[in-house]
Amino acid sequence: MKLKQLWLPLLLAAGLCVIPLLPISRFEEPAPRERIDTTVPLQREGKTILRFANNHTPEFPTSQACDYFAELVEARSQGRILIRVFHNSELGDEKSVVEQTMYGGIDLMRVSTALLTDYSPQLIALQMPYLYEDSHHMWRVLDSGIGDSFLQSLQAQGLEGIGWFDAGARNFYTTGKEIRSAEDLAGMRIRVQESGYMRDFVTQLGAVPVTVTFEKTLNEMRAGRVDCAENNWPSYLSALHYTVAQHIVIDEHSRIPDMILINRQVLEELPEEDRALLRRAARDASQYQRELWATEEAAARRYAEEWGCEINPVFDKGELQQMLQPLYETYASGNEEVIAQIRDMAP
Ligand code: GCU
Repeated sequence: MKLKQLWLPLLLAAGLCVIPLLPISRFEEPAPRERIDTTVPLQREGKTILRFANNHTPEFPTSQACDYFAELVEARSQGRILIRVFHNSELGDEKSVVEQTMYGGIDLMRVSTALLTDYSPQLIALQMPYLYEDSHHMWRVLDSGIGDSFLQSLQAQGLEGIGWFDAGARNFYTTGKEIRSAEDLAGMRIRVQESGYMRDFVTQLGAVPVTVTFEKTLNEMRAGRVDCAENNWPSYLSALHYTVAQHIVIDEHSRIPDMILINRQVLEELPEEDRALLRRAARDASQYQRELWATEEAAARRYAEEWGCEINPVFDKGELQQMLQPLYETYASGNEEVIAQIRDMAP
């Protein structure tokens, strides 16, 4: 046999030796993935694992209360129910979290009730401008039958509220022009939460509402697309808004509490004792959160002042209150009774 004729069988033999060394898996059909039914609580080794979404940073007082809620549930269920808390908008911005929780992609969430008004307009009654005298007044309402009925107001959307968190009083702050009087807000591009009511709120002041997620507000202010935003003291700080918007007025135009909600189907799949356990833990976490909140609210204000933020000392709340009064005509219809009851509960 000529040398040239030997090449072919030699090459074939070498090839056969190499083939088994190739990563076979690259050419194999992937094994079918285990399908997770997201409409029921995840069960693993006899444990129920629930995903809980929160958009604040882990150190934020509200986030600490979310963790406390998870700890209570785990301890009281002797480890049968585990709540995995995702802080920092890890599961998405609030609007998408609301939608995912409605459809069962997320089990529990802590959200601003501003985000819920497009689904349950009656919740606007709780957020009207200058409705409460102070936080004690708001807590009297939230801890009463009125608060309980609002927790149930999203049943048709597949959600049940199980507890309230304080989110303080909200103030306006600006990146450029200082706000000396309520009229200065006219013409400003003001960031609002994802809520039709909040758009009307700032339109009422002659301002231009710009709907932006909480996460993107800092960037929008930095880029100059938003001149003004409004929030509570701890969020003004934690979201770093104070670094770009240093003029702030203590106008306390509204108190918009946060709510803890659970997907109803998830809740109903659980035995009655576990449902009660979750509801009780949410209420206990609410007590804890309001204590943390009060301390943190004062500390955040002090910090902002030390940093050099300018609080306008002569801002007249009364003028702003008057400008916002027409919202009661637009939004009170159908809610007159509950608004009157809330007012009557002032301390
Ligand atoms: C508050 C509230 C958040 C919300 C934020 C906002 O901080 O707790 O849940 O996202 O306001 O202004 O969007």
